[in-house]
Amino acid sequence: MHVLIDRAEQLARRFFTEDASGHDWHHTDRVRRQAVKLAEREGADRNICEIAALLHDVADEKFYNEKGAGIKRVEHFLADANTDSETVCHILAVIDTVSFKGGNNQSPDTLEAKVVQDADRLDAIGAIGTARCFMFAGNRGEAMYVPDASARTNMSEDEYRRNSISAIHHFYEKLLYLKDHMKTESGFEIAEERHRFLEVFLEQFFSEWDGAK
Ligand code: ADP
Ligand code: NI
Repeated sequence: MHVLIDRAEQLARRFFTEDASGHDWHHTDRVRRQAVKLAEREGADRNICEIAALLHDVADEKFYNEKGAGIKRVEHFLADANTDSETVCHILAVIDTVSFKGGNNQSPDTLEAKVVQDADRLDAIGAIGTARCFMFAGNRGEAMYVPDASARTNMSEDEYRRNSISAIHHFYEKLLYLKDHMKTESGFEIAEERHRFLEVFLEQFFSEWDGAK
């Protein structure tokens, strides 16, 4: 397993040097560390969680033109590494449930899937999540905030992938929902603190925007 973890790390590091979309190795590394921590607290299979976390973005279809190409790449990688078929199935199932894509919110059915999904979502809230949101919006040429435009709900995957109205709108379309969708108790505890940070941030943001502070 340790050899497989090292190889998965090498693949993920290499993957991000090829990519310019604003995703980076450090996101993967934070998700991996968080997943290992949650796995230990929750009694989940640590190795499965670590490998799935390392590969979750390599498999993500938003980086490929063809549907299913990312998951195929991970499948090939695991086959080349002579991974047994039970482990392969488990890792692929975990990766498959990690993404939050608008309304298509697939519910994870194994403890390992819950752990990795929580780890990925925790990186979207708190100070880091706030910073990532503004980086993402800036990279796409979106505004920081557009007053008077309402947030979208019940989005399809396509609508979610298209531009949001502004970075601040993304808080109301996704970030503020994440805490109540945590799948593990340990993930929820961390999410609560990070969620409070989002609320404090928004309160300060709007009072500065309105000139009240
Ligand atoms: P991941 O697949 O890692 O969950 P995404 O690719 O959906 O993440 O998004 C990467 C980061 O950018 C996340 O922190 C997410 O909250 C943020 N983000 C996604 N869409 C938008 C958007 N339209 N505006 C601002 N931030 C966004
Ligand atoms: Ni991610």
